[in-house]
Amino acid sequence: MNNLGLKLLSPVNVGPLRLSHRVVHAPMTRLRSESDDSPSAMMVEYYSQRASDGGLLITESAHPSYDSRGYIGAPGIYTERHIEAWTKVADAVHAKGARIFMQIAHDGRQSYADLSWGNAPIAPSVVPYETTVLTQNGWVPNSPHRALELHEIPAIVESFRKAAVRAKDAGFDGVELHNANGYLADTFLQDGTNKLANAYGGTIEKRARFSLEVVDAFVSVWGADRVGVRVSPSGRWGAISDSNPEATFGNFAERLNAYGLAYLHVIEPRVMGTETLVEGQAPVGSTFLRKTFKGPIIAAGGFDREGAEDILQRDDADLVAFGRWFSSNPDLPERFRRGHPSTQYVRAAFWGGDERAYVDFPAFAT
Ligand SMILES: Cc1cc2nc3c(=O)[nH]c(=O)nc-3n(C[C@H](O)[C@H](O)[C@H](O)COP(=O)(O)O)c2cc1C
Repeated sequence: MNNLGLKLLSPVNVGPLRLSHRVVHAPMTRLRSESDDSPSAMMVEYYSQRASDGGLLITESAHPSYDSRGYIGAPGIYTERHIEAWTKVADAVHAKGARIFMQIAHDGRQSYADLSWGNAPIAPSVVPYETTVLTQNGWVPNSPHRALELHEIPAIVESFRKAAVRAKDAGFDGVELHNANGYLADTFLQDGTNKLANAYGGTIEKRARFSLEVVDAFVSVWGADRVGVRVSPSGRWGAISDSNPEATFGNFAERLNAYGLAYLHVIEPRVMGTETLVEGQAPVGSTFLRKTFKGPIIAAGGFDREGAEDILQRDDADLVAFGRWFSSNPDLPERFRRGHPSTQYVRAAFWGGDERAYVDFPAFAT
C-alpha cells in the first residue's frame, strides 16, 4: 500500500527547519545513561535508529543541574562530558538527515532526597502527594518536598540558560522546555501546585512567570524559532491539576505568541489510560489551544497513524509526536508510508535496563 498522500508524510516548516514529514519522536525517559549522567553509547544507537531523512526527534528530558534530576539513569546537560556525549547523539542523528531538539527539565518535586545530597525536592509550594520514583534500589516512595525560596529562582533559571548553551555546543537544532507532566515549570504554572502569593503566584500571569523566564533564557541563546515548549493541560502525571486549565493554558499560549517560537507541543487530554483527565478537569488540548497559539503545534498522546492523520486533516495540529510506538518501531515514518503494521512496545523495558527492548527492534523486513 502506498500512503504518499497522507498529510502526516508531507513536508512542514518548524522555525527555520524544513522537515520532510510530520512524524515526530516524542521525548521518552528511558534511564540508560552512564553513572555520571552522560548519554550512553546505546542511547546514541537508539536515536540514530529512529532518525529518518527530514524527520524531527525530541530527546528524553535532560537535566540542567545535578540536583534537578528525578530519576537515576536520566541524562544530564550540566557538564562538559555531557556536551561531548550529546554531541555523539546529535551527530548520529544528523548523519541520517534528521533534526533533533533537546528537551530540558527540572524534575521539581518528582524526585527524592538521595538524588540531591539528601536535600528535599523542590516546588513552588508544599502540596503533599504520593508517587513512586526510581532509585538505585528500585521504585520507592517520593521524598516530601519543600517550597523554594524566591532568592533561589534566578540560579535555577540560569541553570536552564547554561543547559541551552551546552545543547547548542553539542550541535543540537533547538531546545524544548519541559513544561508538562507535573515537573518544576508545570508546578509553577498550575494552581493545584502553586499556592504562592508573590511575584510567582496568585494570578495566572504570575504563575507563568517562571516558565517565561526560562523561555526568555532559552530564546537569548537560541533565538525564538529554535525553542519549543511542551505542555499537558489535562494531564495528571505528577498529581498536577488546575482549577481552570482553559484560562491558565489559554493565557500561557497567548503570551508565548509574543516570541514566535518553533512550536508548542501539546499532550492531548486522552493520553495513556489512567493518565487521562483529572476528575472534573476540562479536556484542554490542541483543538482548544489552536484557537490561541499562532505557531506550529505538535500534538502528542495516544496517536496511531490514523489518529494522527485525522488531527492533521482537522488542522488542529501541524505535527504529531509518537512515544510508545516509536520505542518499538525505529522506522515508524517508513512503516506509516508503506502501511506496515507496528511492533508492540515493551512496557517492562521503558524505564531502565540494557539494550534489550531498546535498540534491538528491527526495521520492518520486506
Ligand atoms: C517510557 C516513557 C518515558 C517518557 N518520558 C517523557 C519525558 O522525558 N518527557 C516528556 O515530556 N514526556 C515523556 N513521556 C511522555 C511521552 O512523550 C508521550 O507524551 C506519551 O508517551 C504519550 O504518547 P504515546 O501515546 O505516543 O506514547 C514518556 C512516556 C513514556 C512511555
